Amino acid sequence: MAAAKIAPSMLSSDFANLASEADRMLKCGADWLHMDIMDGHFVPNLTIGAPVIQSLRKHTKAYLDCHLMVTNPLDYVEPLGKAGASGFTFHVEISKDNWQELVQQIKSKGMRPGVALKPGTPIEEVYPLLEGENPVELVLVMTVEPGFGGQKFMPEMMDKVRVLRKKYPSLDIEVDGGLGPSTITVAASAGANCIVAGSSVFGASEPAQVISLMRKSVEEVQQIN
Ligand code: DX5
Ligand code: ZN
Repeated sequence: MAAAKIAPSMLSSDFANLASEADRMLKCGADWLHMDIMDGHFVPNLTIGAPVIQSLRKHTKAYLDCHLMVTNPLDYVEPLGKAGASGFTFHVEISKDNWQELVQQIKSKGMRPGVALKPGTPIEEVYPLLEGENPVELVLVMTVEPGFGGQKFMPEMMDKVRVLRKKYPSLDIEVDGGLGPSTITVAASAGANCIVAGSSVFGASEPAQVISLMRKSVEEVQQIN
């Protein structure tokens, strides 16, 4: 069984106080910190890169779950490895030709490889990355169009999660976009165990309650199955 991981998206945090925001989330019960890395090209937004991860790493031992919304993820492997990233999740849409090299490089830098897919990308496209000698260890199913926090959850993406969970009972399946108290049940029931949540956690008056509610949802579904 893949353990529940609740990963607040730091994109919704106060970037001017990143270290204390990270600390606050961990004290509220976060398992991972989700770090959205964008290049203004793969997505129409620009956020953080390796220098920020490096600065944050000096303040925390937390698992930094990096989501690369960039056109050339290979260029980011070495800098992010040095900076202290934990997970390195790249998008399948731009890695059809070099995912094997990417996965191998990510592992050689001590990070955990994952693959993400946009709402319009069929789940079958990640299957090759889950087979063979050097598979990815996490699949991130986007439940909004990548680029911005605060968008509406797309429940129709749950078919991807369901089919993946059936095929891979112990795989880390992450959902990202529009997750919160009103959508967690649908995602957890479909089989997601890694839950990214930005605006619902940072916008809450009691983030600890939101985190704990989401964890319970995932764990309850796992107990039934
Ligand atoms: C969107 C990012 C998400 C985003 C989620 O491109 O990948 O991680 O921060 O934010 P919410 O939870 O507000 O939809
Ligand atoms: Zn993300």
